[in-house]
Amino acid sequence: MPEIRVRAFEAPADAEWAAATMARAEPWVTLGTGYERSLKLLGNETRERYLADVDAERAGFLVISMQGAFVGYVQLLGVAEAFRGQGVGKALIDFAEQRIFRETPNVFICVSDFNLGAQGFYARLGYQRVGELKDFIIIGHSEILLRKTIGPIRPAAA
Ligand SMILES: CC(C)(COP(=O)(O)OP(=O)(O)OC[C@H]1O[C@@H](n2cnc3c(N)ncnc32)[C@H](O)[C@@H]1OP(=O)(O)O)[C@@H](O)C(=O)NCCC(=O)NCCS
Repeated sequence: MPEIRVRAFEAPADAEWAAATMARAEPWVTLGTGYERSLKLLGNETRERYLADVDAERAGFLVISMQGAFVGYVQLLGVAEAFRGQGVGKALIDFAEQRIFRETPNVFICVSDFNLGAQGFYARLGYQRVGELKDFIIIGHSEILLRKTIGPIRPAAA
């Protein structure tokens, strides 16, 4: 089995690699994201940004937001095509959950309604559909809001 290592972004080349990966992959092609917009999202230092390396080669990326209304929001997750189906996406989500559940009991993710592959991936990992944002990024397509929870924000008093 290849060694998968999740680490924080270390250099501008990390964001550039992730932006190039996004710019040529679905769902971002259909969403019209493109390289420049991807790079802007990946360059946002108010987010936590991670890469997965497989045997020291960049294979996937993860961006988490720990601020705002949906604390614990996985904003971006992607695995380069050549590395899919080898556990890299799962390693990134496991990492995200460990990080987020340290501070808050919910993980939120949006997935495009046409992105059936990722919907299958998240369902397998225990994510539940909690809402639909119609025409949210582009007209004619929804973003499906998913949630995985380990309990309420304020547990009942003993
Ligand atoms: C979705 C994505 C992140 C999955 O990453 P991956 O590295 O290929 O997935 P993994 O190999 O870690 O798979 C983990 C589990 O999910 C399952 N899975 C992966 N892709 C799946 C799919 N298309 N349909 C159903 N299940 C799937 C695997 O079978 C595996 O299950 P197992 O643990 O029982 O074997 C990757 O396909 C990707 O980057 N897609 C394009 C970008 C994208 O859609 N990102 C999400 C935007 S919200």
